[in-house]
Parts: sequence; C-alpha cells; structure tokens
Amino acid sequence: MSAAPVVVVGANGLVGSRLVARLAARQSVIAVARGAARAEMQMLLAAQAQSGRATLEYEDLDLTLDGALKDLISTRRPSAVVFAAAMTDVDACERDVPLAWQLNVRAVEEAALGCREVGARFVSLSTDYVFDGLAGPYSEDDVPQPRGVYARTKRAGEEAALLLAPDCAVCRVAVIFSGRAGAKKTFAVGVAEALRAGREVKAFHDQFVSPTLADNAAELCITVLDSRAQGIFHCSGAEVVSRVEFCHRLARRLGADEKLVIPVALADLKLPAPRPLRCGLLVEKVRALGGQALNLDAALERFLSEQAGTAA
Ligand SMILES: NC(=O)c1ccc[n+]([C@@H]2O[C@H](COP(=O)([O-])OP(=O)(O)OC[C@H]3O[C@@H](n4cnc5c(N)ncnc54)[C@H](OP(=O)(O)O)[C@@H]3O)[C@@H](O)[C@H]2O)c1
Repeated sequence: MSAAPVVVVGANGLVGSRLVARLAARQSVIAVARGAARAEMQMLLAAQAQSGRATLEYEDLDLTLDGALKDLISTRRPSAVVFAAAMTDVDACERDVPLAWQLNVRAVEEAALGCREVGARFVSLSTDYVFDGLAGPYSEDDVPQPRGVYARTKRAGEEAALLLAPDCAVCRVAVIFSGRAGAKKTFAVGVAEALRAGREVKAFHDQFVSPTLADNAAELCITVLDSRAQGIFHCSGAEVVSRVEFCHRLARRLGADEKLVIPVALADLKLPAPRPLRCGLLVEKVRALGGQALNLDAALERFLSEQAGTAA
C-alpha cells in the first residue's frame, strides 16, 4: 500500500464512484465531490466504518471555486490525482459555455498544476467526442477534431493535462453505463426498463459507439494509473456497435422482444449539441498494458448483475 493517498475528483459520478470503490480496497483515497456523499459513496463509507479500516475520506469541494482543488492537492500531497469530474451534459454545455470551460478545462488545469507542484501522477478522463465521427473507429494516434462546446472543452482539458502535468495520462472513455444502485440514470438503464415493461424504445441506427461499463472504465483507468505510462489511452468497451445493436444485444440478454427497438436517425432529433456518428474507440493500446476491455456481451452481463445486486 502506498503511504500517500490517491485523490479521486468526481467521486459521486458514474466512473468516479467505481474508481473510489476499487482504489479504496487497496490504498488510502480522498474522494472529492460536490455536496453530500451519495448512494455508492455512502455505502463505501458505511462499510469502512463497520470494518474499522480508515482508507477512505470524503471531501465536499465545488470545482467552480477557483483555487480550491489546487489548495487541496498542495496540502494533502497525494501520490496521484484521478480526475473524473466534468460537465457531461453536452446540450447544457452549449447553453453555458463559461461553466463548461470552468469544469472541463480550468478545473483540469488546476489539478494538473497541483500535480506538477507536488510531483503527483495525473490521470485525467476524456471522451470519444474529441473526434468528429466522420471516420471512426479511432486510435490514439488519430487527430482530434472536436465539434461543439462539450467536445472542444474536453479537448482543451486534454491539452491542459498533458502540457502541465509532467507525469500524465489521459484516459478517453465513451457512452458510460452502470447498473449500480443509486447511479445516475443512463441510456442503458432506460432501455432495460422499457424492454422489461414491453414498451417501445427509440435508438439511433446511424450512431456507432464503444459502450463502456463504468466499472470497466474504472478498471482500465487504474491499469493506466499503475502502468506509469504517459500520453493518451482509449479506456472504453472493446466493441463498436450502433445504438440499435446495443439495444438488440440487451434485449437478447433480457429475453425481450427486439422488435420493441425502433430505429431512428440522429439528425431526426434536432438536438442542440453536435454528436459524432462514427466514433468508436480502438483499445489495443490499453490492452497492451494488460487492461481487460470488455466485449459488449460481457459488459451487459456485468451490468445486469449490478442491477440485480449480485455484482462484486
Ligand atoms: N457519461 C458518458 O457517457 C461519458 C462519455 C464519454 C466521456 N465521459 C467522460 O468520463 C468522465 C467521467 O464521466 P461520468 O459519466 O462518470 O460523469 P458523471 O457521472 O456526470 O460525473 C461527473 C461528476 O462531476 C461532478 N461535478 C460537476 N460539476 C461539479 C462541480 N462544480 N464541483 C464538483 N464536482 C462537480 C458531478 O457532480 P454531481 O454529481 O454533483 O453533479 C458528477 O458527480 C468525464 O471526463 C466525462 O467527460 C463520459
């Protein structure tokens, strides 16, 4: 066990909560999040209180307060910071550009500068949306072409991390889903609910993505953290599928009727933020580090056991 703690920023989030759960099982963790501890964090803190082991601390910190995160890093001198907070609502980013910049760029910059000051390793999470989706799937060597406020701020955050933190890795994830109790409701949860109830569900037939179980994203990011490798790593699920195919595969696992899935075109919805169409991520690089990027059926099996409360 490393003596200095690891800081996880965004600890109440889909991926952040799984990073905390996995890291706290082996070392000291400072979980940084906004407001009171929620769902999974409460369970982890309660389990710790029962066990008498004190490896997990919870810090309420608002990332819109300039300097607060850097101060925390300067004071606590962690061995590493994993940054999984973000403004992830892509349409909200279009409406509030300054807030998107604050969370997706400035807060990352602060974390990177804090890591630079104390000599900590920095792992910053990013997105498949840094690509325009015209020619995916993409490897880490492909040149980003972000469209829209969310994508552009996330790409700027990547540059801030890579330029400012001397020991840095950027982990790109995609279309996160989680079946954990209390986790934010994602597309997959809505689809599973509809299919179980025998209701129709609409899905894009023309958007191709790398769906990623939050817990698997956390595993892959920890592989990158431990590797000491520098640069960009794709930490998504291993299969590129259309949203319709994702729903069909989920329907099969649930024994539901695939005809309930109604294909629609992304352009039909006239959404405020641009969404890349062919945006799959290639995961060979993280696999070469030993990362176990899951195929979709394996991820769906784990998702359903999370929903059933039987996952580890
Ligand atoms: N979700 C996806 O499908 C997806 C796809 C591609 C890439 N990513 C990237 O993956 C990473 C993790 O995303 P995720 O899906 O786990 O996100 P998430 O569930 O939305 O979690 C993000 C966390 O950031 C926190 N946050 C937002 N504003 C804050 C503030 N002012 N102060 C403190 N914390 C604040 C949120 O707090 P609250 O809980 O209080 O709102 C939330 O817990 C991000 O870098 C994201 O861009 C996600």
